[in-house]
Amino acid sequence: MTDLANAVTRLPLHGGAQIPSLGLGTFRLTGASAVDSISTALSLGYRHLDTAAMYENEAEVGAGLRASGVARNEVFITTKVWTTDIAPGDLQASAQASLERLKLDQVDLLLIHWPNKSIPLAGSIEALCDAKRRGYARNIGVANFPSDMLDDAVRLAAKHGEKIATNQCEYHPRLSQAKVLEACRKHGVAFVSYCPLGQGRMADEDAIAPIAKKHGKTISQIVLRWHVQQGVCAIPKAASAGHQRDNLDIFSFTLPDDDMRAISALARHDGRLVKPGFGPEWDR
Ligand SMILES: NC(=O)c1ccc[n+]([C@@H]2O[C@H](COP(=O)([O-])OP(=O)(O)OC[C@H]3O[C@@H](n4cnc5c(N)ncnc54)[C@H](OP(=O)(O)O)[C@@H]3O)[C@@H](O)[C@H]2O)c1
Repeated sequence: MTDLANAVTRLPLHGGAQIPSLGLGTFRLTGASAVDSISTALSLGYRHLDTAAMYENEAEVGAGLRASGVARNEVFITTKVWTTDIAPGDLQASAQASLERLKLDQVDLLLIHWPNKSIPLAGSIEALCDAKRRGYARNIGVANFPSDMLDDAVRLAAKHGEKIATNQCEYHPRLSQAKVLEACRKHGVAFVSYCPLGQGRMADEDAIAPIAKKHGKTISQIVLRWHVQQGVCAIPKAASAGHQRDNLDIFSFTLPDDDMRAISALARHDGRLVKPGFGPEWDR
């Protein structure tokens, strides 16, 4: 293991598993360059990869893992079932197809990518629990679930003797997620932050520049440190080795409380970047 890999903290999940607090997002990584990016990230020390059926890059994620030479059991791999495929039967078929593309027997985490107003949640959660029982995934979770829907998912999974391990949602200093964070803490569900760098916009966030200068870090590193210091897991996407290395190198310094508060104070009510028409009613 590299020094950077050794430094990465882990968050406990229900059932005893642990998820590395920093993972590689892979949305928009495609083709041969995706295989290279993923293999490079693993050689630098990443041990957590985030993909989805919708990203159409699961084959490349699996190929990148094999090209890296890093053992399968050292890497935490998440995939997701797209929102149109979460009805009972469809969900299990989607998970099986993901495993075939990844060339894996099992993923570490299988998520419902988005809730679907036209598909009853009870059936989707039952199917998700069934996918776990069939061995397709070690852990199950959801993504883009507002706090009330997370309450429902946790309750429905409990009926089948299962637990929701994570809720993956957009989060960065320009978007408050106080209500979802509170719901996750209440249920012992790990919060995984997507778009943690605001799709790259955060790198130019002037309000954070003085904090970055003070700590001798880049603005992106400060933003990622702000995430992990709250006990949140972040999955920034980075294609190049330079960005990948920077993003992993956030475990050797600590932000004091006043810096943490100053960054949290940047949140705006209209800071959400990912808001498709089919999305749920968000927490206010
Ligand atoms: N569950 C969901 O519905 C959902 C939705 C969206 C995303 N996601 C997941 O979350 C991941 C991350 O979200 P995202 O890709 O949309 O946004 P992001 O991670 O916030 O931002 C990615 C952008 O930031 C740039 N970047 C990365 N590291 C940098 C650094 N150190 N300095 C400056 N720029 C840097 C990247 O450029 P380079 O690539 O050139 O380095 C890329 O343009 C996705 O890849 C996906 O796995 C999930």
